[in-house]
Amino acid sequence: MNWKIPLFKIYWDEEDIKAVNKAISQGMNWSTGPEVTRLEERLAEYLKVDYCLTFNSGTSALHAVLLAYGTGPGDEVIVPSFTFIATANAPLFVGARPVFADIEDKTYGLDAVDVERKITSKTKAILPIHYAGCPCLINDLRNVAQRHNLVLIEDAAESLGADINGTKVGSIGDAAILSFCQNKVITTGEGGAVVTNSREIYDRLKLIRSHGRLEDADYFSSTKYMDYVALGFNFRMSNISAALGLAQLKKLHKLVEMRRENARFMDQRLSSIEGVTLPSSPNGFYHVYQMYTIRVASDRRDGLQRYLAERGIMTKVYFPPVHHTDFYKNKLKYDCNLPVTEAVAQQVLTLPIYPSLSKEEINEIARHIASYQSEAL
Ligand SMILES: Cc1ncc(COP(=O)(O)O)c(C=O)c1O
Repeated sequence: MNWKIPLFKIYWDEEDIKAVNKAISQGMNWSTGPEVTRLEERLAEYLKVDYCLTFNSGTSALHAVLLAYGTGPGDEVIVPSFTFIATANAPLFVGARPVFADIEDKTYGLDAVDVERKITSKTKAILPIHYAGCPCLINDLRNVAQRHNLVLIEDAAESLGADINGTKVGSIGDAAILSFCQNKVITTGEGGAVVTNSREIYDRLKLIRSHGRLEDADYFSSTKYMDYVALGFNFRMSNISAALGLAQLKKLHKLVEMRRENARFMDQRLSSIEGVTLPSSPNGFYHVYQMYTIRVASDRRDGLQRYLAERGIMTKVYFPPVHHTDFYKNKLKYDCNLPVTEAVAQQVLTLPIYPSLSKEEINEIARHIASYQSEAL
């Protein structure tokens, strides 16, 4: 469908094109290459962590990081159901069991109290997300993880650039994953990364990412025999994508500020409409608005979505609970009681919020929401 106002638009400029052109016109290093290393160094610097490894998606980063921590059959990983399905699937990839905990309704992140209730002798890790670009109550989760000697892995797919009083999300847990899929704050089309301060995890991740091969030089330009010492995948990001990632990363601050400015304007326009709850974040939490999600009464939400769609405005429900999907409910037989997740998921509607969204477009979105709500009430 050709939307008048799509849910997201990619922000790109001549620097992105130049960077990709340059990577291509080298005529080599399209797979591995120096841009990959440079992007990893820049991301680690930005997040103030010791190590970063790029991946070909956030999903493969999730898969790899659980393997790197030795997660496997018999283990449980506590995850939200209010997330993109990849968060919950990651434990399944490695033969472990995802255990759903409920969310709190300040940031829609995992609720530390419910997480603690879900801990058993099998629990290995806690895997929270920072929903929509708002940091979750990660310090509470870190305390729980520490008390129970569990690994804390942040799924920061949606939240590069977000921070709590200056501490970047992604640098708080034992490790974190990022995504550079096209709807994220910066993008390489598809792509991801793992960041950590652990040298041991970093070394394991390198093997997992590239066939279990001990690489002490560039594989494609070295005659050296490199031994295969573990089972590994090809989860590598291409050098062309990394070149694009570097160009995008240079713009990160500007892109986030544009998103925040649009979110402020959207807040202003929507704040007087009855029955609409705006996104918010606790004091000191820097929200990057990868998404702008409102809440409306559950019996009006789908109607509002249809109303906006008829006027060319795309919205989406992020997220329908993972435990309600056919796969989890019928094939895996999950039967969960997650009251906050269920209530929130019936009310949320994610509106367009991208850097190049204009004030006129925001006015138009707000005007249609206002007229739908006034008809509804
Ligand atoms: C919370 C969350 N986790 C994981 C992912 C997966 O990332 P990717 O699409 O790069 O595989 C996404 C993005 O789609 C996400 O929003």
